[in-house]
Amino acid sequence: MANLLVLGTQWGDEGKGKVVDFLAPAFEIIARYQGGHNAGHTVYLGGKKVVLHLIPSGILHPDKVCVIGNGLVVSPQAFFKEIDDLKALGVEVRPERLLVSRTAQVIMPYHPVLEKIAEQSRGGKMIGTTCRGIGPCYEDKAARWGIRVADLLEPEVLKEKIEDSLAVKNRIFEAFGYPSLAVGPILDEYKALGEKLAPYVADVSVFLAGQIRSGKSVLFEGAQGTLLDLDHGTYPFVTSSSCTAGGVCTGLGLSPKEVSAVLGITKAYTTRVGSGPFPTELKDETGARIARKGDEFGATTGRPRRCGWFDAVAVRYACRLNGVDLIALTKPDVLEELTEIRACHAYRYKGSIMKDFPSEPWILEKVEPEYRTFPVWDRSIHRARDFSALPAGFLDYLKWLEDTVETRVGLISTGVDREDIIFRRDEFKKILGEKARVLG
Ligand code: IMP
Repeated sequence: MANLLVLGTQWGDEGKGKVVDFLAPAFEIIARYQGGHNAGHTVYLGGKKVVLHLIPSGILHPDKVCVIGNGLVVSPQAFFKEIDDLKALGVEVRPERLLVSRTAQVIMPYHPVLEKIAEQSRGGKMIGTTCRGIGPCYEDKAARWGIRVADLLEPEVLKEKIEDSLAVKNRIFEAFGYPSLAVGPILDEYKALGEKLAPYVADVSVFLAGQIRSGKSVLFEGAQGTLLDLDHGTYPFVTSSSCTAGGVCTGLGLSPKEVSAVLGITKAYTTRVGSGPFPTELKDETGARIARKGDEFGATTGRPRRCGWFDAVAVRYACRLNGVDLIALTKPDVLEELTEIRACHAYRYKGSIMKDFPSEPWILEKVEPEYRTFPVWDRSIHRARDFSALPAGFLDYLKWLEDTVETRVGLISTGVDREDIIFRRDEFKKILGEKARVLG
């Protein structure tokens, strides 16, 4: 048995979708543990671009079971739209291969409205959220107003919960000049959605425990990234869920002993969507070139991503925090577009060198990155598939990166297609044992 956690070590958009898609054949189950349809996991399937928001990327493999854990906030409308989109692509999604936790939270129609009010109220300090109602749904969970998936299946419970919620929300809407919402239409819509959702609903914790006991392996698919984690990210410019390793246990109802290894997905440069500090950001033509070459536009909102140099302080922090065993490095070929490559190994703050990622946003706003400069390697690595054929210049850069973040690189993605991957089987053998044989 080897259950692998795959998560992002930066601000999301590291390329998790493609890596999960590549690794899926070695696992029977792919489970998501946090977030919602704010995520955007892009996979290219036979040249066609597929973007998954809520359903785990493993769904593209017809023999896999996918799981949506209790740690997620689920929009039933987004769930069914994604199933329809997948069907249109020829991917059959049956309830036997897609389970939704009974205790996942449900995004209700008032959540995006509350989010709009919150973002507008922040003025210049807005977070720049995806406007999917994610934050307010998690707020309701913590405030214990939340409506859970199982509630949709019990009309009386659902009615009472909607009434209780609207009694409070409508007063907020009134205060901010928004129209109030009526119980009846919401109840009717969500009762119907509950009936449609019923075949997918399961006790995910029991299911996973049983599957693991019988020898099946699980790939845990993280969404967003470490620096967007509610506790450990660049708070308050974060998402509202636990993207880091601890989220697996709380978000699926599993013991920490079930996570055998951690793979950290890391982009060879840095991107960020939305507001918040970003020490290595490039606001010049170099940043724009990276964005163009790397196609850096939000998979969910289409917003252009902010681009910057690789930040080893941040990635080292993410590796320590999550116990990352191996890194999957994505998009290094994008850097070939440039005349030279830089990577930050430390910050300077008030005249002193800082090697640990600070938790205060006002410090992170002011740090000055210390850079190491590399020449661009002399031969393209775009679509390369063989490690031994990589140019020496790239290997020097890779060695520096491994040493600086104190973690080995086990996989390198060199293009958008499934096959554009360099897989270091020996490295994966150390964490996955014989399972590594199935891959690459
Ligand atoms: P929320 O998750 O919609 O509340 O947004 C909070 C912050 O997380 C914003 O800066 C978003 O841009 C960012 N965010 C949320 N999901 C993703 C993602 O999948 N990739 C990158 N950034 C994300």
